[in-house]
Amino acid sequence: MTDTAHAQDCYPVGGDWTDARVDAAAYERLYAAAARDPDTFWLDQAKRLDWTSPPTVAGDWSFDADDFRITWFADGTLNVAANCLDRHLAERGDTVAIIWEPDDPADAPRTFTYRELHAEVCRFANVLTAQGVAKGDRVTIYLPMIPEAAFALLACARLGAIHSVVFGGFSPDAIAGRIEDCGSTLVITADEGRRGGKRIPLKANVDAAAAKAPGLAKVIVVKSTGGDVTMTPRDVWYHDEAAKVSAACPAEPMAAEDPLFILYTSGSTGKPKGVLHTSAGYLLWASYTHELAFDYRPGNVFWCAADIGWVTGHTYVLYGPLANGATTLMYEGLPNWPDASRLWQIVDRHRVHTLFTAPTALRALMKEGDAFVTATDRSSLKLLGSVGEPINPEAWRWYYEVAGDARCPIIDTWWQTETGGAMIAPIPGATALKPGSATRPFPGVFPRLVDDKGTTLDGAATGNLVITQSWPGQMRTVWGDHDRFVQTYFTTYPGTYFTGDGCRRDADGYYWITGRVDDVINVSGHRMGTAEVESALVAHAAVAEAAVVGMPHDIKGQGIYAYVTLNSGVATTDDLRAELVTWVRQEIGPIATPDKLQFAPALPKTRSGKIMRRILRKIAEGDTASLGDTSTLADPAVVEDLVANRVG
Ligand code: PRX
Repeated sequence: MTDTAHAQDCYPVGGDWTDARVDAAAYERLYAAAARDPDTFWLDQAKRLDWTSPPTVAGDWSFDADDFRITWFADGTLNVAANCLDRHLAERGDTVAIIWEPDDPADAPRTFTYRELHAEVCRFANVLTAQGVAKGDRVTIYLPMIPEAAFALLACARLGAIHSVVFGGFSPDAIAGRIEDCGSTLVITADEGRRGGKRIPLKANVDAAAAKAPGLAKVIVVKSTGGDVTMTPRDVWYHDEAAKVSAACPAEPMAAEDPLFILYTSGSTGKPKGVLHTSAGYLLWASYTHELAFDYRPGNVFWCAADIGWVTGHTYVLYGPLANGATTLMYEGLPNWPDASRLWQIVDRHRVHTLFTAPTALRALMKEGDAFVTATDRSSLKLLGSVGEPINPEAWRWYYEVAGDARCPIIDTWWQTETGGAMIAPIPGATALKPGSATRPFPGVFPRLVDDKGTTLDGAATGNLVITQSWPGQMRTVWGDHDRFVQTYFTTYPGTYFTGDGCRRDADGYYWITGRVDDVINVSGHRMGTAEVESALVAHAAVAEAAVVGMPHDIKGQGIYAYVTLNSGVATTDDLRAELVTWVRQEIGPIATPDKLQFAPALPKTRSGKIMRRILRKIAEGDTASLGDTSTLADPAVVEDLVANRVG
């Protein structure tokens, strides 16, 4: 689409927003206020939290490598769990905090009021204390989407222990790596997970991880499916321990900058990095953005369909909604099981007001036809959110017109694990929508586009997206490797935070994220470092070298295309190809499964030995007619072989 088409295609705010909290004029006022006097603006916003000792300072930061620092509200103290639970008890103790929808629609949903959730979290915290967990300890959580996942995260927050959630789809190796990296000695898991009618052997995966993570001393096992598991001397059942403790547990006052959690995410190197978020700034960002993006009002049922293993689950299943006293829905299963109407049936069953999901899910549902949607009521829906990857205009229109009956704005939120919460997104009632654009930055977010040399691009332009000023929800470090944090994000375009994303800004000041400009690909809204998949491949005995690139994929957004050079003498058979695909799946997890794997006698390299990924990307995309200049290659004939044997 051209810019002209976008201008014609500018949707109004979508629906009736006459009572919007923030209208277009208020947005401009807030944006200007945050720019003019950030200290006053953020100290005022800090009042949305309940402090044991309120802060007198807001942001103290510098993105210059020589004088690098980021702190927010540094002299304040609070407890995150108390903000999500205790402070709501007087007014909304009997309001439902969590609605849990099971994988199988024949099973009964469960609900927990704020009072019940408070008791569950206190009990869980007491179990953790009894198992030796104390403030500052790292606790690894490998749980399915069951209520105990919410209890466990909040229990850590209550004690000041740092949680590190590992997505239930990750392999034993990936779990072991994350346990070792943050030095956690305790894992919380379940017997099994349940997704789409299938069982996932979580406890068995932890057992396998333990063999590679010698520091792991204790495993708390939640009984979820009742499936068979082997209990070792390291393991205790959660229900046994919970029966021994009380449901009262004081919340530990934490310094604003004390860590709240670590979440591992892929970067452009082989090893995932532990993104660290701190207590006050993160919670403030979760609360502020949940309210702004979704105009949350008491009584609304808010459903973020992400797994708690990703940042979206942390911020918008748990911390943002609970900080705001909302009713949040947690769903155990998949959007398309038992059939493609499940998402909409859940919306009807619980009268969901806001649905927040990923474009990949929408594309998969769209493919099944409109009847699955139109057979449902959906009259409770007022807002539809999107996250994780660029939403293509076709999926946007389908979401808006078919799912939302053209009366719910699409809140396309651009952000990252590193940013803690949404950064660029429409505000319902304030922002006119354009299909495919995350629209405009929230008050307090200052994006800039720069070219590859770092020169600022003004007005309508396409470039690399950087953020020029700190915001409270910003990550503070890479766990155990502060230099890597500064190097990764603040040295490419000195003095600014580099997002790794490419972006276009149109003449109306709207932002259109074009995707990653580094070696990170986005598979079904999940980040995957190409180097991570390459390391897994070369760890196989048959493989000499591997190069991995992204390729366009109808449903996943991007798929994984792997080029593999085998050790000499190893035959290129279909069996080996299948074995390597399975190998990567086992090494990392199903989300890293290569979609295409091509055996390459050699990889295209420059004379200095650098792999020319640009060429590999073009071949993977099928764009072999415009490979560009190959004259700098050490051996241009390599390319001909790759083109001839491309996996179509
Ligand atoms: O490339 C951007 C893409 O996802 C990356 C961040 O991935 P992750 O840390 O896993 O967080 C995903 C959930 C926030 C970004 O660098 N991305 C995320 N949301 C959008 C997006 N790209 C375009 N539009 C979005 N709304």
